[in-house]
Amino acid sequence: MCGIVGYVGRAEAAQILLEGLRRLEYRGYDSAGVAVVDGGNLETRKCAGRIVALARLTKKRPLSGCFGISHTRWATHGKVTDENAHPHFDASGKLALVHNGVIENYQLLKEDLVRNGDTKFRSETDTEVLAHLIGKLYDESCASTVDVYQKKARLLGAVRAALQKVIGTYGIALVHANVPDFMIGARRGSPLVLGVGKGENFLASDVSAIVAYTRDAVYLNDFDVVSVERDKFEIASLGGESGDHPVSKVEFTAEDIKKGDFRHYMLKEIFEQPDTVRDAMRGRLSVEECTAKLGGLNMTPAQLRDVGRIILTGCGTALHAGRIGEYLIERLANIPTEVEYASEFRHRNTPMTPETLVFAISQSGETADTLGALRESRRKGFRTLGICNNVASTIARESDGGVYMHAGPEIGVAATKSFTSQLVILTLIGLLFGRMRNLSTAEGSRIIEALEALPEQIEEVLKLSDQIKAIAKKYADVNGVLFFGRQFNFPIALEGALKMKEITYLFAEGHPSAELKHGIIALVRPDLPSVFIVPDDAVFSKNLNNIEQVKARKGPIISLTSGNGAKQLKEIANEIISLPDAPDCVMPILTVIPLQLLAYHLAVELGRDIDKPRNLAKSVTVE
Ligand code: F6R
Repeated sequence: MCGIVGYVGRAEAAQILLEGLRRLEYRGYDSAGVAVVDGGNLETRKCAGRIVALARLTKKRPLSGCFGISHTRWATHGKVTDENAHPHFDASGKLALVHNGVIENYQLLKEDLVRNGDTKFRSETDTEVLAHLIGKLYDESCASTVDVYQKKARLLGAVRAALQKVIGTYGIALVHANVPDFMIGARRGSPLVLGVGKGENFLASDVSAIVAYTRDAVYLNDFDVVSVERDKFEIASLGGESGDHPVSKVEFTAEDIKKGDFRHYMLKEIFEQPDTVRDAMRGRLSVEECTAKLGGLNMTPAQLRDVGRIILTGCGTALHAGRIGEYLIERLANIPTEVEYASEFRHRNTPMTPETLVFAISQSGETADTLGALRESRRKGFRTLGICNNVASTIARESDGGVYMHAGPEIGVAATKSFTSQLVILTLIGLLFGRMRNLSTAEGSRIIEALEALPEQIEEVLKLSDQIKAIAKKYADVNGVLFFGRQFNFPIALEGALKMKEITYLFAEGHPSAELKHGIIALVRPDLPSVFIVPDDAVFSKNLNNIEQVKARKGPIISLTSGNGAKQLKEIANEIISLPDAPDCVMPILTVIPLQLLAYHLAVELGRDIDKPRNLAKSVTVE
């Protein structure tokens, strides 16, 4: 949430900063701003609305200068207005600051500043308070110096002193009109990466903002403060320790984050799934031993065998993957497994036996609630592993090990390819733990064969896109959608409903099919279709009963089935989407794709902003 970009170099900063913001727009898109310094003059453009509005503004009133900062906002404190857009300034108007996070004690800090005569607050944000605090500390310390080296040191000192007083989370970047070619960044709880270029350096919330300029990156740790100049940078912790900050190569290129021929990132990412599913299992299957190889878990065979309980935690789509993981691990490995909302888990006292293993599932690896759950679990001494896509993320770095998704950057706000990658990885985990216990070689082989067949089967499912588009057109004026499934496909009903809500803004709910008669059936009516996820499996006939119950009440039925299911649904369902068959525990990787497409096509039909849905942002770094 919120994206920040900073630049110090020899090129015109404004274009680089705007281009960076475009790449970060998925993190927040209610307002944006940029500040550039030129010859001791700090100039700003900022406005409510998307980056295009800011680009128009800077085209009308261009900015010149070779260092500056920028921000795209997802509002937390203060309404969506021009004034609340970042950057924010100190009382002198010479220091500009952008911020991602929440300053929890901003009211107290503000009262202090006001008591001491500082009253020129122009916005309702927590960020502005931090800008004033740093500016005040800097002005006090700098009154008597003109030496530029001393100015840099004193600005850094003021940032450090101010951050010592802050309670909350931040990724910040700031510049000062009187301190040339100099930028400071700091992080605590919100991501910040330093891009290392030749004669130029960058700061960003995410490498995608800067990968067009450099693939050399230093991922900052919590409490790091970095001072950045054209040809050098210095990182030390808030406490003053220098620490180890290796320069890493960014895994992907600028090409990977383009939309290509697709109209939306979401559609591109849906269609990438044959490849991303393949990449999630690449090198991780042992056909000979009928098991999975997951060296990243950093666990010995004895440790793997001793796991007595598993907790899967995450938020949103990642949590839905966890729900399927629960069925998978219990089925394949017979290990008691619980799924916990990360936001609940971190604050409640879940009973945990010493042999409990915790997995934090997160595409971004930056979700504040999931990170909080991971830290709480590690604080209690439990081995905590990550299932992440972003290899440089905080969750990936702070966990005791884990499994990367290797799905490539996911830009569409609605998660799609990361979900199927998470399911592949959870299947691998089930397989590995199962084969350390009672899962037979025959069963192990069956799972491996099913996994290996998936990329081609997904290609088949993607060919149904036109059929699904036609269904979306037909149902475009509905008032909502219900989703039902049993067993492995109950979480798919939840995920189908989440996708539908996120990008169409239609009311949608997912339920276990059998719950229908316990209350939900009261909702059934002709303008509310029910999507039934009913592959031809052991619970098919039970599902059929539930479909009949909806049919009897004139509810339209959209069914997803496999094998002989279509024959039996012919007389009952209004729509039948036929999928290739797979063992029930792998089937969700196929059944979710038509639901991603259904939400997508319906949202297009309704004219929604697919990649930037209302009120949402990818990577939720606030609680
Ligand atoms: C849904 C969606 C969100 C995320 C959730 C967790 O389409 O994108 O529900 O799944 O915010 O995000 P990560 O996986 O980055 O922790």
